[in-house]
Amino acid sequence: MRLLILGGTNFVGRATATDALARGHDVTCLARGTKRSPPHGARHVVADRTTPEAYDDVAGERWDAVIDVATQPGHVRSAVAALSGSTDHWLHVSTISVYADHSVEGADETAELLEPLAADEMGSMEDYGHAKVACEQAVTAALGPDRSLLARAGLIGGPGDLSGRTGYWPWRFAHPATDDGSVLVPVDPGCRTALIDVRDLAAWLVHCAGTGATGAHDVIANAAPLADHLATAREVAGHTGPVVEVGPEWLAGHGVAQWYGPRSLPLWVGPEDSPGLASRPTTRARAAGLSPRPLVETLADVLAWEGGREQPHGSGLTDEEERELVSAAAERSS
Ligand SMILES: NC(=O)c1ccc[n+]([C@@H]2O[C@H](COP(=O)([O-])OP(=O)(O)OC[C@H]3O[C@@H](n4cnc5c(N)ncnc54)[C@H](OP(=O)(O)O)[C@@H]3O)[C@@H](O)[C@H]2O)c1
Repeated sequence: MRLLILGGTNFVGRATATDALARGHDVTCLARGTKRSPPHGARHVVADRTTPEAYDDVAGERWDAVIDVATQPGHVRSAVAALSGSTDHWLHVSTISVYADHSVEGADETAELLEPLAADEMGSMEDYGHAKVACEQAVTAALGPDRSLLARAGLIGGPGDLSGRTGYWPWRFAHPATDDGSVLVPVDPGCRTALIDVRDLAAWLVHCAGTGATGAHDVIANAAPLADHLATAREVAGHTGPVVEVGPEWLAGHGVAQWYGPRSLPLWVGPEDSPGLASRPTTRARAAGLSPRPLVETLADVLAWEGGREQPHGSGLTDEEERELVSAAAERSS
């Protein structure tokens, strides 16, 4: 196949380009190359999608499929305007954040979406879901439902995840900050998580580019209670020390954030958001060839990737914060 990836230098796009190259496809990546170039073997078309001439170098060619990872509606609107006549198949990497309600257990691709963002650029991450709805709608309006696939991914992780959401737990269990090896964990009954390995998402996108699959697909994997995810991370790290369990109110009272970022316990979200984030059936994606690896493999590979870093990428508690909070939790129970 001749594949055009709009992106291809960062996490998802890069993994997709890498997978396609390994399968012998001809891969072109269009990106500015701000931090990195596409993987070795891909052709790099250097372009800025905010400029009118962004697609000039690729619009005259014929593509078996175009795969886009964009988040800004303006990027997608300009891309489909320039390139929809150059391909019969467009795959957009979207997100389950497009759904209006995450409280419904078992909701599927037919669930109600957020309102699309009218603007070409989202002002902040608060607009993320709305922006991705606008991206989806631009693709479907230009290509039609029979020539487009919307891959609504849940949390994506694996080696290369700079957010720290996949890396923190195996890293922390492998590197306790306390003398007795204690590790602080959130206990929030009803909190679930799900994580698809970026390599499995990438392989599925390339597979779908080959089969011509169309329509909206929720692409999540390894849905489980957060406690099970943490147990797998602990097993991968070989942690045998004490596990210090603290509840949501205690954590909130000690200024610990949910989900990711500094002074957070990554992956912890309130039970109200858990069902829709981690209970979506993936019947369509599996029928279209999705075959995710077990979580234990992803977490082992992420731990190897985080290697000997003093802190994992992106998220979690620093060693100092971990020690401070573990001692505060001990005082609570003494
Ligand atoms: N991470 C998650 O857990 C998660 C979950 C669900 C869905 N998603 C979806 O996954 C996708 C993320 O994909 P990713 O990791 O490959 O992308 P990314 O980190 O968002 O990078 C965007 C890509 O587009 C390029 N780009 C950005 N601005 C550009 C511009 N003005 N002109 C040309 N190229 C530009 C970037 O390269 P240059 O900077 O070099 O130009 C890069 O290759 C998004 O669609 C997101 O919604 C992520």
